Amino acid sequence: MGILSSRSFSIYSFVFVFFFFCSTFTLSGAYDPLDPNGNITIKWDIINWTPDGYVAVVTLYNFQKFRHIPAPGWQLQWTWAKKEVIWTMMGGQATEQGDCSKFKGNIPHCCQKKPNIVDMLQELLTKSRLPTAVGVSVGQAGTSNKTVKVPKNFTLKAPGPGYTCGPGRTGRPSQFISADGRRATQALMTWNVTCTYSQFLSQKTPTCCVSLSSFYNDTIVSCPTCSCGCQNNASHPGSCVEPKNPYLASVVAPPVTNKYSILPPLVQCTSHMCPVRIHWHVKTNYKEYWRVKVTITNFNYRMNYSDWNMVVQHPNFDNLTELFSFNYQPLTPYSTINDTAMLWGLKFYNDLLMQAGPLGNVQSELLFRKDSPTFTFDKGWAFPRRIYFNGDNCVMPPPDTYPWLPNSSPRPNFSLLSTTLTLLSALAFLYTHA
Ligand SMILES: *[C@@H]1O[C@H](CO)[C@@H](O)[C@H](O)[C@H]1NC(C)=O
Ligand SMILES: *[C@@H]1O[C@H](CO)[C@@H](O)[C@H](O)[C@H]1NC(C)=O
Ligand SMILES: *[C@@H]1O[C@H](CO)[C@@H](O)[C@H](O)[C@H]1NC(C)=O
Ligand SMILES: *[C@@H]1O[C@H](CO)[C@@H](O)[C@H](O)[C@H]1NC(C)=O
Ligand SMILES: *[C@@H]1O[C@H](CO)[C@@H](O)[C@H](O)[C@H]1NC(C)=O
Ligand SMILES: *[C@@H]1O[C@H](CO)[C@@H](O)[C@H](O)[C@H]1NC(C)=O
Ligand SMILES: *[C@@H]1O[C@H](CO)[C@@H](O)[C@H](O)[C@H]1NC(C)=O
Ligand SMILES: *[C@@H]1O[C@H](CO)[C@@H](O)[C@H](O)[C@H]1NC(C)=O
Ligand SMILES: *[C@@H]1O[C@H](CO)[C@@H](O)[C@H](O)[C@H]1NC(C)=O
Repeated sequence: MGILSSRSFSIYSFVFVFFFFCSTFTLSGAYDPLDPNGNITIKWDIINWTPDGYVAVVTLYNFQKFRHIPAPGWQLQWTWAKKEVIWTMMGGQATEQGDCSKFKGNIPHCCQKKPNIVDMLQELLTKSRLPTAVGVSVGQAGTSNKTVKVPKNFTLKAPGPGYTCGPGRTGRPSQFISADGRRATQALMTWNVTCTYSQFLSQKTPTCCVSLSSFYNDTIVSCPTCSCGCQNNASHPGSCVEPKNPYLASVVAPPVTNKYSILPPLVQCTSHMCPVRIHWHVKTNYKEYWRVKVTITNFNYRMNYSDWNMVVQHPNFDNLTELFSFNYQPLTPYSTINDTAMLWGLKFYNDLLMQAGPLGNVQSELLFRKDSPTFTFDKGWAFPRRIYFNGDNCVMPPPDTYPWLPNSSPRPNFSLLSTTLTLLSALAFLYTHA
C-alpha cells in the first residue's frame, strides 16, 4: 500500500502490473497467454512396410497463430528406440551420416542413434504456410505395428531452441483421400508428437521493445534502458555499431555464411540495444474515434525481416474501424475476448522490414471507435497491454512512466476493498480462462 500510493499508480495500472506478472510467470512455462493452444504437431504416418522396416511420411503442422518458422527452417532430432537406421530421405536430410561401417553394399543415409534432420523445403513452408513433409525409409525397425517402436526424446529447433516436445503417441491412423476424391487409404500406423514454444526456454534475450508517446503530453517514453542488452564498450567492444561509422559495411558483412547458422544481430547503438523497436503514438482524438500511429523500426544491420508480424493486445481492438497499410486479423485466444490482433505488412509494399538505415521502418495508422463505457485517455488506457514481434514478447516501459493526461491527478483514489475485488476478479478470470 505504501509503495503503491506514493507513486502514480491507479487501480487500473495495478491490475495491469498484476497481469504483467502473471504473464511473465506463465511465459516461463511452455504456454503463451496470447496463443494458449499454439503448437507444432509432428505426425508420423507409416505408409508401407519394407523387408526390414517401413516407409513413413513425417509432417510438421504449425498450429501457432503468429510464430512462423523462419530461415533456415526447422531441425528435428529424435532417439531411436531400437537399432533403426535411415535408408533414404526425401525433403529433408540428416546432418551427419554417423557410423555405417557395419553395412556392406547398400549404405544407409544415416546410422546415428540420434539423427538430426534438417528441413530442405523451408522455402515452401514460409511462403505458403502449408505443412512440410519429409519422406523417410527406416530399416532395422520392425515390420508390423506390434514390433515398430515409436522414437523417443523428440527435439525441435525452429530454427533456434525454445520448443519442448512431448512423447510420441500412437492414435487413429490418418486417412488420405485420393486426388479424384473417390478413394480413401489409410496409414498403417500413426503417431503424433506435440511441441510447444516458450520464450523462456529459448533463453533468448528480448528482441524487441516498445516506446510510447501521445498528443496530450510531450513526454516520449522510450524503451527501457538495456531492454535487450547493454552497451558495453569495455567488455563487448563492437557489440553495436554507430550509424556514422565509416567502416559500417565491413563490420556488418557476415563473417561466414553457413546456411544452418543464425547470425547474431548486429544492432545500431541505442540505449535499449534491441534489434526492433515498436513505437505507439496516440495521435488524434475525435468525437467518436481516436487514432494511433504505429512505427516499427529495425535496428539490426544483419536482417531484413520478410513476412514479419506483430501481435498487439489492447481492449479497443474489438472496435477497430480502419487500418492503414497493414493487414489485420483478430486473434481470440479466449473465445469471449476480442482484444488481440495480428498485424502484418502488405505484399510488395511493406511486408519486408529492411535492415537498419533510412528505409528500416514501416508505419501504419489505426482508427478505433470509442466504446464509451471503457474509453479513456486517462491512466495509460490508450497504450497497448502487450506487443509481440515475430512471436517474441517485447519489453514494455513500466506503467508508472506512461504519459499522463495534463491535470489528471497522479494520486490514486485507492481503496483496499476495490483492490481486493479487482484482484479477485482478475484471479477468477485467470482460472476460467487458463
Ligand atoms: C495393429 O493393427 C491391427 C490390425 O491391422 C489393429 O487391430 C491394431 O489395433 C493395431 N495396433 C496398433 C498398436 O496400432
Ligand atoms: C534428449 O535429447 C537432448 C538433445 O539431444 C539431450 O540433451 C537429452 O539428454 C536427451 N534426453 C534423454 C532422456 O535422452
Ligand atoms: C495427429 O495430429 C493431426 C494434426 O493435428 C490430427 O489430424 C490427427 O488426428 C492426430 N493423430 C493422432 C494419432 O493423434
Ligand atoms: C561506446 O562507444 C561509442 C563510440 O565508440 C560511444 O558513442 C558510446 O557512448 C560508448 N558507450 C558507453 C556506454 O561507453
Ligand atoms: C536487405 O535487402 C537489401 C535490398 O534487397 C539488400 O541490399 C541487403 O543486402 C539486404 N540485407 C541483408 C542483411 O540481407
Ligand atoms: C473481433 O473484432 C473484429 C473487429 O471489430 C471483428 O471483425 C471480428 O469479427 C471480431 N471477432 C469476434 C470473434 O468477435
Ligand atoms: C465495440 O465492440 C463491442 C464488442 O464487439 C460492442 O459490443 C460495442 O457495441 C462496440 N462499440 C461501439 C461503439 O461500436
Ligand atoms: C506527462 O507525463 C509524464 C509521465 O510520463 C508526467 O511526468 C508529466 O507531468 C506529464 N506532463 C503533463 C504536462 O501532464
Ligand atoms: C475517491 O472515490 C470516492 C468514492 O468513489 C469519492 O467519494 C472521492 O471523492 C474520491 N476521491 C478523490 C480524491 O477523487
